Amino acid sequence: MTAHSRYLPGTAVMPESSLFPLVSGGGLGVMGQLDNKVAVISGGSSGIGLATAQRFVEEGAVVYVTGRREQELTAAAEKVGAIAVQGDTSNPADLDRLYDTVRADGRQIDVVVANAGTAKFAMLEDVTDEHFDLHFNTNVRSTLNTVKKALPLLSDGASIVLVSSVSGSGGTAGYSVYNASKAAVRSFARSWANELKGRKIRVNALSPGIVDTAGIEDALVAAGLDEAGRREWKANYASAVPLARWGRPEEQANAILFLASEQSSYITGFELVVDGGATQLGTWS
Ligand SMILES: NC(=O)c1ccc[n+]([C@@H]2O[C@H](COP(=O)([O-])OP(=O)(O)OC[C@H]3O[C@@H](n4cnc5c(N)ncnc54)[C@H](OP(=O)(O)O)[C@@H]3O)[C@@H](O)[C@H]2O)c1
Repeated sequence: MTAHSRYLPGTAVMPESSLFPLVSGGGLGVMGQLDNKVAVISGGSSGIGLATAQRFVEEGAVVYVTGRREQELTAAAEKVGAIAVQGDTSNPADLDRLYDTVRADGRQIDVVVANAGTAKFAMLEDVTDEHFDLHFNTNVRSTLNTVKKALPLLSDGASIVLVSSVSGSGGTAGYSVYNASKAAVRSFARSWANELKGRKIRVNALSPGIVDTAGIEDALVAAGLDEAGRREWKANYASAVPLARWGRPEEQANAILFLASEQSSYITGFELVVDGGATQLGTWS
């Protein structure tokens, strides 16, 4: 069954965040940064995508989230007050269904966050065609189709945020295919910013550093690290960050909100790096 649950706005179920109108945007008498805006976020059931959905709802947006696991997606959407449309971004028919849902609801789209992505470990000698296809389908082709299929619904002046990674400019061993896929995503932001400027549509990339999410944990498990190994790996990475810790999904969400909102109205084709200073201060290996 296809999930298409509605919570806010327009129905009686209120997310927790809307109970505090004076501290969040979009409440009584307080202008939200995304009031009257409609946003679509791919990969909205966990991590950075979920934190972004929550932040956008707090700022007054109607938010559609998509993800493959229906139960997780529906539960996440209920929690933050978003609209769940189950689907796999690497399946064009699922993307059509997502945008058909928005169209059927009589809405245009003001913000697209192409966030769904995957990262698996493989040293060069172990890279298979399947490994390559997984990354380039999920991270590159899906990003392209998520944005391309949104075009007819995008309002003039819309904002597109592509979630890339600091890995796109780095060379972490064992992640060469992931790194290359994220470089492609960063490149899309420049080209599409040029192609869409006539409609005043801005396109920017967000490049997170290491952020504590289920996605990272899964990648480390898939790399064969046991619990102690994962702890050590995480501690090593934290020590290489000038701010001496991992990032939090909410911090990425705040940066995505900046790129999505009028606060960044004169910024396009840009890569915003949110990594605790590691790239700028040259501490990544
Ligand atoms: N965490 C980090 O340190 C970090 C650093 C740099 C960049 N990033 C990037 O940030 C993005 C989000 O990562 P995260 O760490 O927040 O990961 P996460 O917690 O694993 O969340 C990934 C989300 O994407 C969804 N997803 C994955 N493949 C999908 C597909 N084919 N179709 C639809 N939805 C899909 C997942 O739901 P389902 O599995 O149910 O589909 C989930 O909702 C990714 O693009 C990642 O590469 C993360």
